[in-house]
Amino acid sequence: MKKIFDPIQLNYLAVKNRLVRSATWEGTANPDGSVTEEAYEIYEELAKGGVGAIITGFTSVALHDYYFDGMMRLCDDSLIPQYKKLTDIIHKENVPVITQLALGAYYREKNGRYMQVEPDDMTEEEIHYVIRQFIDASIRAQKAGFDGVQIHAAHFFFLSRFISPAVNHRKDAYGGTIKNRSRILLQIMDGIRKETEDLHITVKINSNDFTYGGLKESESLAICKLLDQAGIDSIEVSGNGTSVGGIRPHVNEGYFAPFAAEVAYNVSCPVIVVGGFRSLDTMEDLLNKTKLELISLSRPLLREPDLPNKMKADPAVISKCISCNACYSSPSHKCIFRGRDLS
Ligand SMILES: Cc1cc2nc3c(=O)[nH]c(=O)nc-3n(C[C@H](O)[C@H](O)[C@H](O)COP(=O)(O)O)c2cc1C
Ligand code: SF4
Repeated sequence: MKKIFDPIQLNYLAVKNRLVRSATWEGTANPDGSVTEEAYEIYEELAKGGVGAIITGFTSVALHDYYFDGMMRLCDDSLIPQYKKLTDIIHKENVPVITQLALGAYYREKNGRYMQVEPDDMTEEEIHYVIRQFIDASIRAQKAGFDGVQIHAAHFFFLSRFISPAVNHRKDAYGGTIKNRSRILLQIMDGIRKETEDLHITVKINSNDFTYGGLKESESLAICKLLDQAGIDSIEVSGNGTSVGGIRPHVNEGYFAPFAAEVAYNVSCPVIVVGGFRSLDTMEDLLNKTKLELISLSRPLLREPDLPNKMKADPAVISKCISCNACYSSPSHKCIFRGRDLS
């Protein structure tokens, strides 16, 4: 019988319960990727709130990645001490922390200007450069005290577009078949494994791109199997249109759960599922009916960073998040209801 608040040991990661903070972009970093006081405060509050492990908001591997504002970046060694301060704050509460490494898009430099280039138009040399950026960022992550890295291959970020048949029409070793499109992920994973030590390597992947001609569940499952065979430590299942609205506790929670459960039956590594979980009994029931091992939460922890502590004290507690998605456009992506609670 799996209990949400029982500890679980993952490769290189001791987690005190099965609730994970799913990556949530705060948009608080400076343009060079340096960490602000606000971010330190956000992560301290999260770590004190009882979650088993934290995955940071997407952290770009590149300086010239203009995909979103306020992204954290692990693109330069000079930033390591600032990220070390972040991991120290989180570790003080006995919580492991994984940085979500991402590239929003690849930008090619020409005459001092940067232009976004899609996978089809990249040279092989540029692809190798991107792979190197992920490996270098992982080395920095380890030096900064992170317990793991998550390769962000979901939500149509660069790697998600690269593996998507809707976007990648390359004719070389990086395009065409599933194996070829996944090669970039496998080479990033292999490189990180070879050049770091004892780092938990996980991946976040779309179950479905929900785009015409995009990745579907059958292909996503095939990629998960390839990653599993190559030695990934865990897989987090998501999908495009990730933050679905209108979630009602006990009615329509866990919209990626059926496919995530299928992945869990087909791979040997632990599988994490994200998306629309709001009640403890629903989450525990899912874990016990399937081979899924962990549940990750984003909006519920924006609404109540101490939700895990509250659920532990009273299993009947239900997340107050109403899935309105206003936090996508609020300052620092704070829940718009925070500080206004009457209860
Ligand atoms: C404000 C906001 C920022 C997000 N930033 C990220 C991110 O940095 N990386 C990521 O993979 N997903 C991101 N997500 C998606 C969440 O991780 C999660 O997959 C999604 O919200 C569904 O889970 P939930 O119902 O628990 O919120 C973000 C979601 C929100 C609301
Ligand atoms: S603004 Fe608050 S209530 Fe609305 S989705 Fe975001 S966290 Fe949930």
